[in-house]
Formats: sequence, C-alpha cells, structure tokens
Amino acid sequence: MQIRSAEFVKSSKHAKDCPEAPFPEYAFLGRSNVGKSTLINMITGRSKLAKTSSSPGKTQLINHFLINDAWYLTDLPGYGFARVPIPIKKKWEHMIKNYMQNRENLMCSFILLDSRHGPMKNDLEFLEWVGSNALPLCLVFTKADKLSKSQLQRNLSLYQKKLSEQWEPLPRMIVSSSTTKDGKEDILKLISQSNKIFVPPKPF
Ligand code: GTP
Ligand code: MG
Repeated sequence: MQIRSAEFVKSSKHAKDCPEAPFPEYAFLGRSNVGKSTLINMITGRSKLAKTSSSPGKTQLINHFLINDAWYLTDLPGYGFARVPIPIKKKWEHMIKNYMQNRENLMCSFILLDSRHGPMKNDLEFLEWVGSNALPLCLVFTKADKLSKSQLQRNLSLYQKKLSEQWEPLPRMIVSSSTTKDGKEDILKLISQSNKIFVPPKPF
C-alpha cells in the first residue's frame, strides 16, 4: 500500500473526545519508549509525524493521524512507565483500556514489545487483559536492529513459549526495526486487508 497523505488530526485526553469514527482505525500500544511513535513514522514514511523521544513518557495523549484520507493511526501513551507517579500511571492505563473497549472503529491494536527483552510482567499482564476482552491484536517486536539474529530468535522463542501457556492460537507477530524498515510491509498489508472488511459504526 502506498502512503499518499498523512496528517495529524487531534490530540485527546479522553476516549470520549476522540475524533468521529467513520474510518477504520489502528492503535499503537506498548510500554513507554518501546518505539510506538517511531513505528508510526516508519510505516508512513514521515519522520516527523508523531513526536518521538529517547526519554520515556513523551506521548501523553491519544493522538489521531488520518492516512490517505481513509484510515486512522493512533499513537497512545505508554503503559507501565515506572518514573511517572502512580496516580498518573493509573490514569493513562485507564484511558488506554477505556479507549480500546469503546472505540467502535478500532480494527486492530498493534502491541509493541521490545525485542531486546524476554517476557516482562507488565506486558504479559496487559496482553492478558487484551485477550480476556477478546480485542483484536498484533504483536510487534521492535528495535530488532539492536540485537543479533540469534539473540532475536531466542527472545522470540521465550515469548512464544510464555504466551502459549495462555494463548491458542498465538497472536499474530511481526518483527520491526526503524533503521532497516523491517516490518513495514507486513504491518501495511495487515492494515490494507483489514480496511477491506471495515463496516462503519452506525450513527446513534
Ligand atoms: P513514549 O511516547 O514515551 O511512550 O515512547 P514511544 O513508545 O513512542 O517511543 P519512541 O517512538 O519515542 O522511541 C523511543 C526511542 O527508541 C527513540 O530514541 C527512538 O529513536 C528509539 N527507537 C524506536 N524504535 C527503534 C528501532 O526500531 N530501532 C532503534 N535502533 N531505535 C528505535
Ligand atoms: Mg510516543
């Protein structure tokens, strides 16, 4: 799929403030600093569309981007960021979960995991919540350029083993890197296929 246009629409503090939902939507979720904003820029080929930072906690609101005048990409704050005060962490988690449960046009959440690490507690807890709510997801293992092929394979196997304790079948999985652009085509293909089966929510 070609990206012909990509524009920022709105930043929202609450799910209820998000823009109208006549288009299919894809959310990018994961721990702070895992590379959500960077991945949005990578797949759209727009290096400054979503704001990125080397320090965690950069994205603090729900940010909507309209792509090809036809579908939304959504950049959200990270969950489980240890350095923000607990009440703020709780508020972000509530906002993310509320958004995921109530956003009618949400076709798939891309849940990002740092490929340098094995399974981490807050990621596994979040995935369990997503699974128990039967929300569509795709796992993306980010920053693959930062480790060797064998290390990457080892960490992927650890994740698969851990997830297979609770998931059958396993969720879809894509490996990505913002430097090599790995994962871009697979993510855009999944979006393109999902766009074809989108049915706009009925107005009230
Ligand atoms: P928050 O908004 O704070 O929740 O973080 P985020 O998940 O949006 O992360 P962001 O995209 O801002 O990236 C965090 C850091 O990781 C930045 O310094 C990025 O350049 C770096 N980064 C992200 N993806 C990759 C990747 O695939 N490879 C490499 N080498 N660095 C990456
Ligand atoms: Mg971000």
